[in-house]
Amino acid sequence: MKFRAIMGALCAAGLMCGVSAVQAAESVEVLHWWTSGGESKAVGVLKDDMTKQGYTWKDFAVAGGAGAAAMTALKTQVISGNAPTAAQIKGPLIQDWAEQGVLVPIDAAAGDWKKNLPPEIDKIMHADGHYVAAPFSVHRVNWLYINKAALDKAGGKVPTTWPEFFAVADKMKAAGIQPIAMGGQPWQDLTLWEDVVLSQGAGFYKKALVDLDEKTLTSDQMVGVFDTVRKIQGYFDAGRTGRDWNLATAMVINGKAGMQFMGDWAKGEFANANKKAGSDYICAAVPGTEKAYTFNVDSFVFFQQKGQKTATPGQLALAKTIMSPDFQEQFSLYKGSIPVRLGVSMAKFDDCAKKSYADEQVAIKSGGYVPSLAHGMAQPDAAAGAISDVVTKFMNSQEDSKTAVAALAKAAKTK
Ligand code: GAL
Repeated sequence: MKFRAIMGALCAAGLMCGVSAVQAAESVEVLHWWTSGGESKAVGVLKDDMTKQGYTWKDFAVAGGAGAAAMTALKTQVISGNAPTAAQIKGPLIQDWAEQGVLVPIDAAAGDWKKNLPPEIDKIMHADGHYVAAPFSVHRVNWLYINKAALDKAGGKVPTTWPEFFAVADKMKAAGIQPIAMGGQPWQDLTLWEDVVLSQGAGFYKKALVDLDEKTLTSDQMVGVFDTVRKIQGYFDAGRTGRDWNLATAMVINGKAGMQFMGDWAKGEFANANKKAGSDYICAAVPGTEKAYTFNVDSFVFFQQKGQKTATPGQLALAKTIMSPDFQEQFSLYKGSIPVRLGVSMAKFDDCAKKSYADEQVAIKSGGYVPSLAHGMAQPDAAAGAISDVVTKFMNSQEDSKTAVAALAKAAKTK
């Protein structure tokens, strides 16, 4: 059942429309899904900062990349009147939760945010003219990670087009290297698929996945997208079913596989394994997407505590800390992202992060800065979920591309 349907049913049943948890003011319970090596280090920075300020951190981590399991757990908590102090919620879902009347505004912590955030991100943090979410960082989704030694052994060069990509993959195969490490969850399928959509141009991506334009969704070009995904699948190993993204990253880190399509939280894993960008691994834009940038901004929302409609001191401290320059820097160094706050120095960051920052500036100016569908930034839950189902069905069956495209156009209409 989709978000609105669940919340609607609960309100109707008189169970939960706006009540919340019993929390001691000094303790902050934080729901998130950052459980991989790099992710844990990153969220650990927030825990330490809050602890130093005198708050007790109650960790509510729900494992599972991209947060599907965490979102289910959150609904259960809110329904049972045990809403956490804060939870990791992104994109249009922020407004969905705000509409349920269960969040608190955090304007009191956000005095200088407007001038320190890109306007398109500042807007996402608002509901009804108030700040209700605090942003952590910017992840770029359209990355291809390559093991440098595997690339050298295969005698390949960093691919910038799909033909070049398939040439490298063939060379790796011939050299006895598994070309692609791929995980096996719907969000990972969708991440790859949206990369291929983006490779058709940011304009095509926007029309297809932001505007949900039917002509674009049913175009021959979209049939070609599915064909390319099918071809890429030919380079997966047989063991991907159910595999977590960070285990796929580990295959590239330890040379068991050559390449992985993944957002730059994967870089947090390379950093955690003491691997260096440039010498141990290469981060390249997904072939054909050099000038574009799919953004994914993590944020926390804050739930009413003890039925109070205003933020607690702990909630305001959390929001303030998340947007403070020092936290922004250290969090992203571990997480693989770049600070979302404007003006934070990039001096301590690696070449991949510097490239992410530079490419972001170019993409913003050129119109190539687009929200990631796979990471909850582009569409409300219902449409994104329906599109995800189409892509996953295609990638886990022998369905032909034309059938998938017809299903896609139908899925895009889901409200
Ligand atoms: C994304 C999230 C990232 C990272 C990734 C894998 O949706 O924005 O912060 O955690 O999932 O879990």
